[in-house]
Amino acid sequence: MNSNTLLQATEVSKSYRNGDNIITVLNGVNLTLLKREMVAIVGASGSGKTTLLQILGTLDTADHGSILFKGQELHQQPEASLAAHRNSNIGFIFQFHHLLPEFTALENIMMPGLIQGQNKAILRDRAMELLQRIQLAKRADHRSGELSGGEQQRIALARALILQPALLLADEPTGNLDAGSGQMVFELLQELSDSFDLSVLMVTHNMELAQALDRTLTLESGHLV
Ligand SMILES: Nc1ncnc2c1ncn2[C@@H]1O[C@H](COP(=O)(O)OP(=O)(O)OP(=O)(O)O)[C@@H](O)[C@H]1O
Ligand SMILES: [Mg+2]
Repeated sequence: MNSNTLLQATEVSKSYRNGDNIITVLNGVNLTLLKREMVAIVGASGSGKTTLLQILGTLDTADHGSILFKGQELHQQPEASLAAHRNSNIGFIFQFHHLLPEFTALENIMMPGLIQGQNKAILRDRAMELLQRIQLAKRADHRSGELSGGEQQRIALARALILQPALLLADEPTGNLDAGSGQMVFELLQELSDSFDLSVLMVTHNMELAQALDRTLTLESGHLV
């Protein structure tokens, strides 16, 4: 494995049992993601994009296959070490973003660091900087439940980036955004990729955004092509 490789998935498969039926969602997925690379994943609804992101992020487990992160095997590692891996290496943006509606935008962004017991003042500064970058500084003290769908999506992006992960896994992060906001998200990710070696794997239906990334892969019949 090349030292420039961040993530390497080999022959990853996943099936779900539904009564007597077995639905094979992933059927031998292979993927190599380089450091600083930004890759789009497209595919029909139900093709397994979310399943794949969850497996690559170790939130779900594959039935078979290998997942190497910086050369270390993650498949079938104990949950405690996977949790530590996720905390220090991965930022997630979920398809349904799961912000905490009772907390403010600023608190939601700080939350991953607060859970880890990191310094509050440093987290606050970093969260405010991210809020400025996504043009939501004026909304810092609004409860997230009172923000628009697109604003919540940008808050979820900032939350995913607060701990400066090596890998961002993003499940349709621009689904509720207009073209201008989508472009802003893209520019922010590109800058982080350049300056902090961030790699991005992004599920998107936005073809314009997909084309702006380094590569686009299509999930089809359980394979990435
Ligand atoms: N926990 C589960 N149990 C059974 N089947 C599941 C489970 N999770 C997902 N599936 C099935 O796996 C397939 C892939 O689901 P997945 O959510 O990965 O699709 P997707 O590509 O993200 O779709 P969308 O674009 O609509 O978000 C679907 O047919 C879904 O019904
Ligand atoms: Mg999905």
